[in-house]
Amino acid sequence: MKQFLSRSSSLTTLQRRFAHLNILRNSSFATLTDKDITQFESLLGPNGILTGDAVEPHNSDWTKKYHGHSKLVLKPKTTEEVSAILRICDDKRLAIVPQGGNTGLVGGSQPVFDEIVLNFSRMNQIIDFDESYGIITCEAGCILQDLHTYLNAKGYLMPLDLGAKGSCQIGGNLATNAGGIHFIKYNSLHANCVGLEAVVPGGRVLDNITTLRKDNTGYDLKHLFIGAEGTLGAITKCAILCPPLPKFRHLCLVSCRSFEQVLKILRSAKHELSDILQAVEFMDGNAMETTLSQLNFKNPFESRLYPFYALVEVASNREGTETPDRLYELLGSADDLIIEGVVAQDETQLSHIWQIREEIASAYIKRGYTLKYDLSLAPEHFYKIVDDTRDVISRSPTFTANEKHSIAVTGYGHIGDGNVHLNVCIPGYDDHDLQDRLSGLVDGYVFEYVRKARGSVSAEHGVGLQKAQYLNYSKSENMIHYMKEIKRVFDPHGIMNPYKVLPDAK
Ligand code: FAD
Ligand code: MLT
Ligand code: ZN
Repeated sequence: MKQFLSRSSSLTTLQRRFAHLNILRNSSFATLTDKDITQFESLLGPNGILTGDAVEPHNSDWTKKYHGHSKLVLKPKTTEEVSAILRICDDKRLAIVPQGGNTGLVGGSQPVFDEIVLNFSRMNQIIDFDESYGIITCEAGCILQDLHTYLNAKGYLMPLDLGAKGSCQIGGNLATNAGGIHFIKYNSLHANCVGLEAVVPGGRVLDNITTLRKDNTGYDLKHLFIGAEGTLGAITKCAILCPPLPKFRHLCLVSCRSFEQVLKILRSAKHELSDILQAVEFMDGNAMETTLSQLNFKNPFESRLYPFYALVEVASNREGTETPDRLYELLGSADDLIIEGVVAQDETQLSHIWQIREEIASAYIKRGYTLKYDLSLAPEHFYKIVDDTRDVISRSPTFTANEKHSIAVTGYGHIGDGNVHLNVCIPGYDDHDLQDRLSGLVDGYVFEYVRKARGSVSAEHGVGLQKAQYLNYSKSENMIHYMKEIKRVFDPHGIMNPYKVLPDAK
């Protein structure tokens, strides 16, 4: 007999857990019963549900910060099954959280209390590839890396690339409107998603799967689901416009003395390389040092470390003037902007340099508990917020001298898109008191800084649970009013990913 519900965690315990965020379990939601589980099992079959210990990986997140208390994971195989699930959940007022690869960084894809997890891993079929227009149509649970592999073999690529590509799913990418490293060249998923299918609470299917590039027939509803973080409905299929795979790719990693020099490199890259520019990324010395030491990577500059680094990648179908050496020259070696640089000579070197940049996130999570901020800021604030945060911590009487010494503050990110990732990390995960004091000081400081600078509290990771209470720092009262109205239209009982994005939506 399959193990169903364990009664170990009472709702009162669950309510206490999120007391600091002023979140209480919505009392209008039903509590899952064995009868409900039997109904879902007869709908999806025995392989379509997880209960007992098998649910646990779905209750926690990659940053080790968010832990929910779901008792059930549903794994539909078809849109019809998703529709039936959302009809049952809406009728019974059972709250539900969509979960893709569970790589999100803002506590969006885990349950907060006892919500059912709706998992898309069995909806992973590529449906069609239109070679004339370069449009791939697939199910929401396709892993991003698998789409890259499939498209590369056909001479195309996915316009989206990011460090979590081995685990994240295209449905999760769309739900977060993920940015990644090639945004500067290929733009956002709003720009590249030409068709979308979504299911809303109650079970209606909004079928807008199409490969038509142009369709001006009134409101374009798909855009509401892109970036909604699963709060309006479940994305089940999509059609994505894909560019041809460039024949040549060159990557240059340069080191600089000051952040102003990095900004000059960005300007120079944009002017000199314009149409072939594929990525301009940034990391500071702390990010480089931590990644090399935590992950045991080889330093491209032997043992030398520098205050700042920029990565510039170009890609083209014409092998011409932009040879690796010429690329380095164009970036400003002549103007003394660069202390030292390396240009990848082959695919192995290229992927080694990219690995250093893409694994910064993993390196800090390995080092310890990490506060992560994903901000859009104007160039004059891009690194100032990192320096200022470091200052605020070093001047604060909240921490002892030893604690201050152990706190790492770093900045890295997609400088070509004005998107900085500010991370504040302490070693290990055991000191809960230090974690609380740190987030107590730094959250308020950083989000207030961003509000005053008219930046965005979420450039690409989304709002999730982490930033729901700060939404009004980047969105006006009137905009939040209409966001809530839209939520009510699609999800009148508020069962879709509750407590996320909109702080007090019912
Ligand atoms: P999940 O984490 O499972 O879910 C994310 C959100 O989407 C949740 O709110 C969830 O409810 C919702 N959701 C998931 N699937 C669906 C669906 N089918 N229908 C409706 N809602 C759904 N992000 C970037 O933007 N750029 C980066 O460069 C980047 N790099 C990363 C590097 C690492 C190492 C890691 C761990 C994460 C990185 N991320 C980055 C964050 C994360 O990978 C992205 O947000 C990604 O798009 C999440 O996809 P996922 O499938 O894991 O979604
Ligand atoms: C990145 O750009 O590396 C990702 O967004 C992950 C992170 O912010 O750490
Ligand atoms: Zn990023």
